[in-house]
Amino acid sequence: MNNEIRNIFNKIAPVYDELNDRLSFGQHRVWKEMAVKWSQAKPGDTCIDLCCGSGDLSLRMARHVGKTGQVSGVDFSCELLAVAQERAENIYPKPNITWIEADVLNLPFEDNHFDAATMGYGLRNVTDIPRCLQELYRVLKPGAKAAILDFHRPSNELMRKFQQWYLNNLVVPTATQMGMKDEYAYISPSLDRFPLGNAQIAIAQQVGFTDATHYPIANGMMGVLVIKKF
Ligand SMILES: C[S@@+](CC[C@H](N)C(=O)[O-])C[C@H]1O[C@@H](n2cnc3c(N)ncnc32)[C@H](O)[C@@H]1O
Repeated sequence: MNNEIRNIFNKIAPVYDELNDRLSFGQHRVWKEMAVKWSQAKPGDTCIDLCCGSGDLSLRMARHVGKTGQVSGVDFSCELLAVAQERAENIYPKPNITWIEADVLNLPFEDNHFDAATMGYGLRNVTDIPRCLQELYRVLKPGAKAAILDFHRPSNELMRKFQQWYLNNLVVPTATQMGMKDEYAYISPSLDRFPLGNAQIAIAQQVGFTDATHYPIANGMMGVLVIKKF
């Protein structure tokens, strides 16, 4: 299963950033800035961006922590990491980011290492959500926060219908034009399987995060889970 997911993301890599911009009308940039803010990363902090993909959140985080800070961008898709690396090389001054090819279910870091964490559109894609949050808990320092951005099913019936219409009639056809039909058709079923905000909070609490809040954004079509390790 992990291999199938990795193959999907390796295939998407060349068009991933363009599609994100087109499909969210650029809004994903705003949501990602919110996630960085909610992670409470500060200048000089050591941070991790889980499932970093092409590095959007890692780059934002690096700007936030400045030249005295450090960001580790972790993903298992070597193709997306190559895109991330190239983006970072074209930025001056060079952001302080280390790109790491690894499985977020087995993070290659010692316990209590990071001051803050972000994750964008990753939690829905991992094969074991509790395990992922458990690993995140392990590598965060006591007092550190993580902000996890992903799709969400709105509680409002009308918004839910709109979201499904948007996925069926905008996302899939646009991706089809770019030769990525199957890869984007997976979003809707993955969203059906993805726990709602309250269930995400419950999993976070089970693995040890005592402070957990889920913030619905974009009329509940997206959400940010903010969790803190005490
Ligand atoms: C939808 S992309 C999100 C990329 C980026 N965070 C963003 O917001 O644009 C999901 C990413 O999760 C990665 N991923 C999924 N499961 C993973 C795992 N178990 N370990 C590492 N990366 C994983 C994929 O390779 C992909 O890059």
